[in-house]
Amino acid sequence: KNIVVLISGSGSNLQAIIDACESDVITHGRIAAVISNKADAYGLERARNAGIATAHLAAKDYADRDTFDRALTEIMDGYQPDLVVLAGYMRILSGEFVRHYEGRMLNIHPSLLPKYTGLHTHQRALDAGDTEHGTSVHFVTEELDGGPVILQAKVPIFAGDTAEEVMARVQQQEHRIYPLVCQWFLEGRVVMQDDAAYLDGVRL
Ligand code: GRF
Repeated sequence: KNIVVLISGSGSNLQAIIDACESDVITHGRIAAVISNKADAYGLERARNAGIATAHLAAKDYADRDTFDRALTEIMDGYQPDLVVLAGYMRILSGEFVRHYEGRMLNIHPSLLPKYTGLHTHQRALDAGDTEHGTSVHFVTEELDGGPVILQAKVPIFAGDTAEEVMARVQQQEHRIYPLVCQWFLEGRVVMQDDAAYLDGVRL
């Protein structure tokens, strides 16, 4: 099956998925393309190093969000994606785009959703005095960071932690759970129906 990955930056989650495809963690799919909205995203280099097709679209070349997302869709659909993976893709998606890939598009968000949607999640968890934090893999719906959660990983927050330390702890877990959920989806074990996620027929 074909996976298309969208990125904007470092691509450490992309790397985890590349590694999972090369080992036996992801056995039911391959990354057909990696697409970035930033030309200098390090993730593009990771993809090229792995021999994966890449593409780049700059927002400034398009009149508005809908036009950008239509151009992106056209490139993506050239790879016939069974699964679309958002891995640090830092752009708001148009409704049309979300509906087009609904049920086959995943995102990873660095918080224990529904806590801390949006940005700066690690600092916000620290500021709130939380003693745990984490990450969530979820289906993408039109509500920002609001789609049904499939899997979360929790990490402790220790006294004196900086946001960077918490982030590193969270990312370690992201690299473990994102490939796992991709494999579950590709095997047909995870589905979305009526805005809910199911694993092996059990509502999550
Ligand atoms: C991850 O922490 C992810 O949760 C968030 O953006 C970050 C991307 O990191 N959506 P990377 O580009 O995969 O290294």
